Amino acid sequence: MRSKMSWTSTIPRSQAWLTVAVAAMLLSTQHSVSASATGGLASDHRTKSVKVKTRRLGGRHGAHCGQGWQDTYSHLHAAILESEASRQRLAVVNLHRNGLGDRLTAAVTVFYYALLSGRAFQINWRGASTEATLAAVMEKANVDWEAARGDVAGGGGTQYVDWWLIDGHHPPDAMDFKVFGGANLSDMWPDARTVVFDINTGAVDKLFYNPYHRQQLFTWGLRPETAVGCALNYLFRPRRETLEVVRESYEALRNPDALKIGIQVRMGDAWLQHKPNGVCDRKIDYDDLGRWFRCASKVEQEYKVEGMPVHWYVVSDCPALRYKAVEKYGLKVLLPSRELVTEHVTFSTGNSTKDVLAMRTAFAEQWLLGMTDFQVITEESSFGRLAALRSLRFRSVYTMRSPAAMAERGRNVSWECTRSNFDNFEEVAINHPWVKVL
Ligand SMILES: *[C@@H]1O[C@H](CO)[C@@H](O)[C@H](O)[C@H]1NC(C)=O
Ligand SMILES: *[C@@H]1O[C@H](CO)[C@@H](O)[C@H](O)[C@H]1NC(C)=O
Ligand SMILES: *[C@@H]1O[C@H](CO)[C@@H](O)[C@H](O)[C@H]1NC(C)=O
Repeated sequence: MRSKMSWTSTIPRSQAWLTVAVAAMLLSTQHSVSASATGGLASDHRTKSVKVKTRRLGGRHGAHCGQGWQDTYSHLHAAILESEASRQRLAVVNLHRNGLGDRLTAAVTVFYYALLSGRAFQINWRGASTEATLAAVMEKANVDWEAARGDVAGGGGTQYVDWWLIDGHHPPDAMDFKVFGGANLSDMWPDARTVVFDINTGAVDKLFYNPYHRQQLFTWGLRPETAVGCALNYLFRPRRETLEVVRESYEALRNPDALKIGIQVRMGDAWLQHKPNGVCDRKIDYDDLGRWFRCASKVEQEYKVEGMPVHWYVVSDCPALRYKAVEKYGLKVLLPSRELVTEHVTFSTGNSTKDVLAMRTAFAEQWLLGMTDFQVITEESSFGRLAALRSLRFRSVYTMRSPAAMAERGRNVSWECTRSNFDNFEEVAINHPWVKVL
């Protein structure tokens, strides 16, 4: 019990009474906590009974993520949601714009703000249609992150934080980085019941230099390199219906004995939104798209052991590429078991069933990309970089860039994905002309 108590004392609480509540929960040995709601509250605020499933080892990645903070925060989060609205302290991230990678990047950033300031983390998701909710696609693995309507309405007690930069460029002296890099997050807006963020960058890496939080994060067992993956694995798990969309690939990628190489070829938002679905006829040519596949071949050559099954998992907004890859490279390329709906998560098809399927496809593919051993990804996309970070692998990423960006690094079309040519953590997470992941 002693060690649990010391974990408790390292997560700040916005209100002293929660110390007692959380300590009491941690002292009891039960694996689920439920408290009855107190009546008489405005119905659009949430005060409810929340089941907390404690997973003692912090899930399958426990060894990389530390143990202890997960359970402590799950209990704190549940205790906040169960308390009276006026005593709650919430941190909400608005996820209304941008694609999946950028949205999850913002979610992870605000999650760390919530964790370090002792607030309940909430997601206010706006999808392509009202049915396309986040909860329709992902399970609330350890905390109930779905924001209630009343929790994001403006008015007294709500602090709105607009860190949305129009061109997505967050210079190192931008306010988000200043706060995350050097402020005591518990002292930011302490009286606001709800802090609502609109943000289009990640600022997690900065926290590991923040004098108020650095020690705490390291003590918990988190590292800059694992922070994104650990948060994603803690917050989300794909729903059964979501994995169903990619069932055969999922089964193949679960094989611990196979060599699994992920290939993410991203054409871009413009392609996804303006071209009719499914008629991308790009070729796997030598100078351009062939580079992703040659890279995968080289990685395979570097790491394959005789007799080992090899799977290539291809994710692309040009769905036909998978079939072209099979023609060229054979059946190690995993094919989808059904027609996937490849659309941008902000783009409404006018058919809500299809919108939900598109969202399930995007989440499922990103999750599966994060199950691979190596990731050959596209530079101009946070989708692949986030999946690579979720894999909690290191020396696993090879980024395909524009010829100009390759030349800046002294590379040309014959540059090879050898063991030593991987992209390091800074390349994957931080050095990026557009939205940073960390
Ligand atoms: C941060 O602020 C909180 C609330 O004011 C305080 O309890 C805590 O000690 C501060 N942390 C550090 C490291 O100064
Ligand atoms: C809506 O989309 C679903 C899934 O793609 C499809 O089965 C259904 O036929 C579509 N409905 C209409 C009215 O087009
Ligand atoms: C690519 O670069 C390598 C070494 O930097 C060089 O030897 C090779 O000739 C270049 N190839 C092309 C096609 O420019």
